[in-house]
Amino acid sequence: MRPRFCLAGTLMMALFLSCLRPERLDPCVEVDPNITYQCMDQNLNKIPVNIPSSVKNLDLSFNTLKTLGSHSFSNFPELQFLDLSRCEIETIEDKAYEGLQQLSTLILTGNPIQSLSQGSFSGLTSLQNLVAVEINLDSLESLPIGHLKTLKKLNVAHNFIHSSKLPEYFSNLTNLEHLDLSNNYIETIHHRDFQVLFENPQLNLSLELSLNPVDFIQPRAFQGIRLYELTLRSNFNSTNVMKTCIQNLDGLQVHRLILGEFRNERTLESFDLSVTDGLCNVIIDEFRLTYVDNISGDITDFNCLANVSVMSLVSVHLNNLEHIPKYFKWQTLVVTRCSLKEFPSLDLPFIKHLIFTTNKDPPSFADVNLPNLTFLDLHRNGLSFMGCCSSSHFGTSSLKHLDFSFNGVISISKNFMGLEQLEYLDFQHSTLKKTTEYPVFLCLENLRYLDISYTNTKIDFNGIFYGLTNLNTLKMAGNSFKDNTLSDVFTNMTNLTFLDVSKCQLQQVSWGVFDTLHGLLLLNMSHNNLLLLDPFHYKQLHSLKTLDCSFNLIETSKGMLQHFPKSLASINLTNNSFACTCEHQNFLQWIKDQSLFLVNAEEMTCATPAEMKGSLVLDFRNATCHMHKTIITVSVISVLVISTIAFLVYKFYFHLMLIAGCKKYSSGESIYDAFVIYSSHDEDWVRNELVKNLEEGVPPFQLCLHYRDFIPGVAIAANIIQEGFHKSRKVIVVVSRHFIQSRWCVFEYEIAQTWQFLSSHSGIIFIVLEKVEKSLLKQQVELYRLLSRNTYLEWEDNALGRHIFWRRLKKALLDGRAWNPEGTAEVEDNLEATTST
Ligand SMILES: *[C@@H]1O[C@H](CO)[C@@H](O)[C@H](O)[C@H]1NC(C)=O
Ligand SMILES: *[C@@H]1O[C@H](CO)[C@@H](O)[C@H](O)[C@H]1NC(C)=O
Ligand SMILES: *[C@@H]1O[C@H](CO)[C@@H](O)[C@H](O)[C@H]1NC(C)=O
Ligand SMILES: *[C@@H]1O[C@H](CO)[C@@H](O)[C@H](O)[C@H]1NC(C)=O
Ligand SMILES: *[C@@H]1O[C@H](CO)[C@@H](O)[C@H](O)[C@H]1NC(C)=O
Ligand SMILES: *[C@@H]1O[C@H](CO)[C@@H](O)[C@H](O)[C@H]1NC(C)=O
Ligand SMILES: *[C@@H]1O[C@H](CO)[C@@H](O)[C@H](O)[C@H]1NC(C)=O
Ligand SMILES: *[C@@H]1O[C@H](CO)[C@@H](O)[C@H](O)[C@H]1NC(C)=O
Ligand SMILES: *[C@@H]1O[C@H](CO)[C@@H](O)[C@H](O)[C@H]1NC(C)=O
Ligand SMILES: *[C@@H]1O[C@H](CO)[C@@H](O)[C@H](O)[C@H]1NC(C)=O
Ligand SMILES: *[C@@H]1O[C@H](CO)[C@@H](O)[C@H](O)[C@H]1NC(C)=O
Ligand SMILES: *[C@@H]1O[C@H](CO)[C@@H](O)[C@H](O)[C@H]1NC(C)=O
Repeated sequence: MRPRFCLAGTLMMALFLSCLRPERLDPCVEVDPNITYQCMDQNLNKIPVNIPSSVKNLDLSFNTLKTLGSHSFSNFPELQFLDLSRCEIETIEDKAYEGLQQLSTLILTGNPIQSLSQGSFSGLTSLQNLVAVEINLDSLESLPIGHLKTLKKLNVAHNFIHSSKLPEYFSNLTNLEHLDLSNNYIETIHHRDFQVLFENPQLNLSLELSLNPVDFIQPRAFQGIRLYELTLRSNFNSTNVMKTCIQNLDGLQVHRLILGEFRNERTLESFDLSVTDGLCNVIIDEFRLTYVDNISGDITDFNCLANVSVMSLVSVHLNNLEHIPKYFKWQTLVVTRCSLKEFPSLDLPFIKHLIFTTNKDPPSFADVNLPNLTFLDLHRNGLSFMGCCSSSHFGTSSLKHLDFSFNGVISISKNFMGLEQLEYLDFQHSTLKKTTEYPVFLCLENLRYLDISYTNTKIDFNGIFYGLTNLNTLKMAGNSFKDNTLSDVFTNMTNLTFLDVSKCQLQQVSWGVFDTLHGLLLLNMSHNNLLLLDPFHYKQLHSLKTLDCSFNLIETSKGMLQHFPKSLASINLTNNSFACTCEHQNFLQWIKDQSLFLVNAEEMTCATPAEMKGSLVLDFRNATCHMHKTIITVSVISVLVISTIAFLVYKFYFHLMLIAGCKKYSSGESIYDAFVIYSSHDEDWVRNELVKNLEEGVPPFQLCLHYRDFIPGVAIAANIIQEGFHKSRKVIVVVSRHFIQSRWCVFEYEIAQTWQFLSSHSGIIFIVLEKVEKSLLKQQVELYRLLSRNTYLEWEDNALGRHIFWRRLKKALLDGRAWNPEGTAEVEDNLEATTST
């Protein structure tokens, strides 16, 4: 319990102290340093001093300043915008704003001003916009602003002004464009109230008089007056009053006249269209009627408005618009938020622009006959349209702009026949049917802008855009493609500069899809399901400036990142699923290198691997990769070394055994004179010639022959070494075609070589059985080398050849024999060597 009491006590103490504090030390919010400060609702009773003198925009609203003394703002000579709304200001002294030569907007809304002195607004040499709403003003006369020659807008709504008389000083306000006198107490508009406008016809004034309880306008009050705009909404509390008042607008020349009421401010029970009968002597360019729902009369009552060029009906509850007379010269008709039961089948020769929007009720489009129509805006009506579109639906072939966005089901079964002039076509957020059955846009070769975003279109026909050769902008977000693959639909749109295929569930992009779009500046592929960033796709986009691939599932890139077009100034890759692994370090390094071109690169995060999830891509360190690399390199090398050694050991196992055996047998005596290596194909020759001549001849030699002398049960290889080499003085190699082709023989021979090398005496005798082609011999490089360098014996199957052969062989075998039995000397003497090159 005790600690809680302590806490509560401390809190209360803090609160108490904070209440005592008269003014927060730094009450203002720095919105834009040195430029914009907001000190709203801070209980300030004087202008804060710690704001930099460079401040341009200062909001001091909802404080308690009470009085503005002279030179109140001399610390802020740069001020351009000053908001003093609801600061309980009662007095504005002379020269209060002195020095604010840059000030262009001054807002004084909601201050109960009791005294303004003649010089209250002096020094405001640049003021353009003065908002003096709800400042207790009882007349325009008492506002000392006659010197504000730069003033463009003066808003004195919600005051106690009873007279619409514009004071003399208005002739000084030559730049004034907008005067808002709404919500005052003006009941009567007198004959000479606008005299100053009559005298200064160069003034181009928009006059807002709404919500004044006007019950009388003196005849000729507006005679000879020219206004840009006159607004009279919710001014009259009866149709009769309205009628006479409107009648007395006689002689006015106004660009735009606005009549009607407000959504929440209805003063008339019903609006009788015949009140406009009084407007025949008013010159009007544009007429607008707003917010009237209880209408009596008919559109034909607009007789006096037959010659206006623009007719706008905003939130007017009309039953129908069918019967607008053909001679009405309206060029633009705007129908907005009017609850019409049916789409009006208009037949008006003069209409050029028809804007029919946000009318909730009409269920389907009906044909119109508007031969001069060029601009048709039908957005947000919930319309359906079967059999769209051809010139016969509109009665025109001049249509350039068609906006059918935000409507119902539109089935395109006519191919825009007769609408070849179309330049702008918008179907977004309507449901399109039958767009992919044939090239629906084939006629539209003048089309520059096409929007079919979110139209439930599934593109399974590559010819969908055939004919659109001049298209600049194609927006098709929120649709889908066959197999979720962006297919080759853009081939002939060589003038395309803007392409949006975002939110199309794309998983991949076919090759060469963009290859003809050399002028494309912006490509939006965001919000798809792409897995890879493949620069190759974009290679041919020579003008591309902006590429948006954000909100995909991109893990890494594919191919050469240098292939991105040189023109590229911005790539958005945010919100992808980057894999921050060493495997993709080239891509991650590229991101770091290109971070200036990448949108919000510093906020891009990794998605995988799990331990990197959420960490910043720019924080990825490739140092670890180098370490990994080293480890990998070292292990690869060790594996290589080990396997090489293993291989060598395997390969030269027998040679090693020889080495081992060398020691063992080196001192031991030889049992055989020679070990014979031969191919089994030559076994006949060995048995019939070699064995016969050597073992049974004089002197007898002891040969080691594997078929005879090897010990059964011992591995052949071991036999070769133990029986063959170790127990023989010499080795006879019988070289033949078969020998060279037999791997086993070559193996034996290789071991023999090793043996020869180990036991110092040269012990290999080559017998070449038959002429072997050189090419074959060359396959056994080593053998070939030895044969061409050393002496060998050539077998010749004739009497003389045999004789020489045996003599030479025996001599070679005798070489190095320890004992010399009888009869050998004679043989030796006759032996002669033959060398071959
Ligand atoms: C604001 O102005 C001060 C003094 O003129 C200057 O030192 C400072 O750098 C400025 N700050 C910024 C954000 O421009
Ligand atoms: C109109 O401007 C002139 C100077 O151009 C000035 O002398 C005169 O007082 C101004 N009128 C009013 C009513 O302030
Ligand atoms: C008159 O003022 C309006 C704005 O209130 C402006 O759009 C229009 O261009 C101006 N006309 C002339 C002739 O200055
Ligand atoms: C219209 O206003 C006048 C005075 O402004 C008042 O006398 C009259 O009763 C009002 N009429 C209706 C129908 O409100
Ligand atoms: C509409 O106007 C008629 C008179 O023209 C009136 O009788 C009726 O009450 C009005 N309806 C509403 C809803 O104001
Ligand atoms: C409209 O113009 C025609 C001729 O251009 C003219 O006869 C007719 O009186 C005009 N109507 C109005 C109401 O000004
Ligand atoms: C309407 O168009 C026709 C030709 O299509 C032209 O002769 C006529 O002058 C146009 N009328 C208007 C008012 O523009
Ligand atoms: C597209 O262009 C190619 C060559 O530029 C041409 O052969 C082909 O007919 C065109 N296709 C269409 C449908 O315009
Ligand atoms: C493309 O645009 C250029 C210039 O904007 C224009 O000259 C050319 O006719 C257009 N059409 C085609 C098919 O290139
Ligand atoms: C791309 O489209 C998405 C929505 O489809 C949008 O939010 C984004 O701003 C677009 N990108 C660019 C660069 O216009
Ligand atoms: C990608 O970045 C660009 C440039 O900042 C931006 O206009 C676009 O809206 C971004 N894309 C998305 C889908 O937010
Ligand atoms: C990453 O590796 C590249 C070479 O692959 C090197 O140029 C770069 O400096 C390295 N960056 C870091 C942060 O280690």
